[in-house]
Amino acid sequence: MATQAADLGPILPAGGTGWTRSPSAYAALRGHREDHPEQQPKHPDPFDVSRSDIYAEDRWQPIFAEMRAKGPMHYIEESPFGPYWAVVQHEAIQHIEALPDVFSSSWEHGGITILDRLEEIEGDRFELPMFIAMDRPEHTGQRRTVAPAFTPKEMKRMDGDIRKRTGDLLDSLPEGEQFDWVEKVSIELTTGMLALLFDFPWEDRDLLTFWSDWAGDTELASVRDLDERRRAMLYEMAGYFQQLWARKSGEEPQPDLISMMIHSPAMNSMSPQEFMGNLILLIVGGNDTTRNTMSGIVHGFDKFPDQRELFETQPDLIPNAVQECIRMQTPLAHMRRTATQDHELFGNQVKAGDKVVLWYLSANRDEQVFDNPDKLDITRDNARRHLAFGYGIHRCVGARLAELQLRILLEEMHSRRMRVKVTGDVERVQANFVHGFRKLETTISRF
Ligand code: HEM
Repeated sequence: MATQAADLGPILPAGGTGWTRSPSAYAALRGHREDHPEQQPKHPDPFDVSRSDIYAEDRWQPIFAEMRAKGPMHYIEESPFGPYWAVVQHEAIQHIEALPDVFSSSWEHGGITILDRLEEIEGDRFELPMFIAMDRPEHTGQRRTVAPAFTPKEMKRMDGDIRKRTGDLLDSLPEGEQFDWVEKVSIELTTGMLALLFDFPWEDRDLLTFWSDWAGDTELASVRDLDERRRAMLYEMAGYFQQLWARKSGEEPQPDLISMMIHSPAMNSMSPQEFMGNLILLIVGGNDTTRNTMSGIVHGFDKFPDQRELFETQPDLIPNAVQECIRMQTPLAHMRRTATQDHELFGNQVKAGDKVVLWYLSANRDEQVFDNPDKLDITRDNARRHLAFGYGIHRCVGARLAELQLRILLEEMHSRRMRVKVTGDVERVQANFVHGFRKLETTISRF
């Protein structure tokens, strides 16, 4: 590993000196188990929604419903992640996200997930800063380097390629034979979409899935145990991207994301570590989220066959169906903020340093905003009001790309008259951050 580090020039300093954050922070971007049994509270709070079993067993709905009925936010004194405020109503989450100076996203204050950045991990650590975990003004400048890759014009440019790859993949699926939709469709299409975005060598595209998966294995026995493995992978990934970066730096500007970042004026103020960190953010941020919505669509249509029928008979509903399926799945269950000052919120005294966890999963089932919220309804007139992409200055920068990929998937399924039924095992991710499926056994027929 030392040799690799030395080879990495400006991106990874040999020995990792000066890098203060563990790559395990990236685990926090994707999800994690309650992996600290010694920290399990003696008297568990029934409203402690950090328990990953409620997501793995898909029984979180009544817990959040009861919490919403009792108020917008609740203080959980004891949890495996320490005390935290659980914010569960739609309006309250929007309110907090509109105050980014009071409620910080920064790693300095603890980061963006309920799991604090892992200060306690010993040894040679390094840091890759990412703008999702920065506050203004740094956040603004860095977001600006990637935002041009997600304009409507860029989406139009990518439409043809994404459609072709989606169609080819659907055509390759076995008919009348059971297979895992997660593995064969959701992962494949998401990786292909990211490869297009980065202009990543097609033959190496599986590396994107591999790296994204190591970055936050959701089935870890212990985050700490696997820190070493992650670190080795991070070096490998950094080395690969550095070569890509070197090649693209010498070329004329291209419309792909890496080239756009290299040639962006804001890049001048970005260190190589920040460049690398933001690339990883884009890979990890775009991966599980889109992947799990693709699985959620199939699962949702299977659970609500009347909605599948509507999709089959009224394809003009597809754009709204995309929004509704994102709302129902909410592939990131929460984001976390930390109060930078004492602040009164809905009659509660939040103290500087308090952890404030915004449960998007609950906001998207808020009966004050969505009628009959646990029902998939692709005709729902306010499906777009979901908070699955967050809100405010950190609202997902890749939202349009995700929507494009999901819309194309539904359109291409429709044009092939493809009906997908869940016919076997359904396994969910055991995590409180990434909300999704590990396995979804399905069989295809035609309508
Ligand atoms: C931020 C969700 C797809 C890249 C976020 C946030 C959420 C989110 C909840 C944080 C918002 C906040 O703190 O207010 C999703 C969902 C997706 C998706 C549900 C798919 C259905 C993507 C894709 C990409 C991407 C495809 C890029 C390829 C990012 C980045 C940020 C972000 C870079 C940080 C934005 C910032 O801090 O300014 N996303 N995302 N996401 N997402 Fe996504």
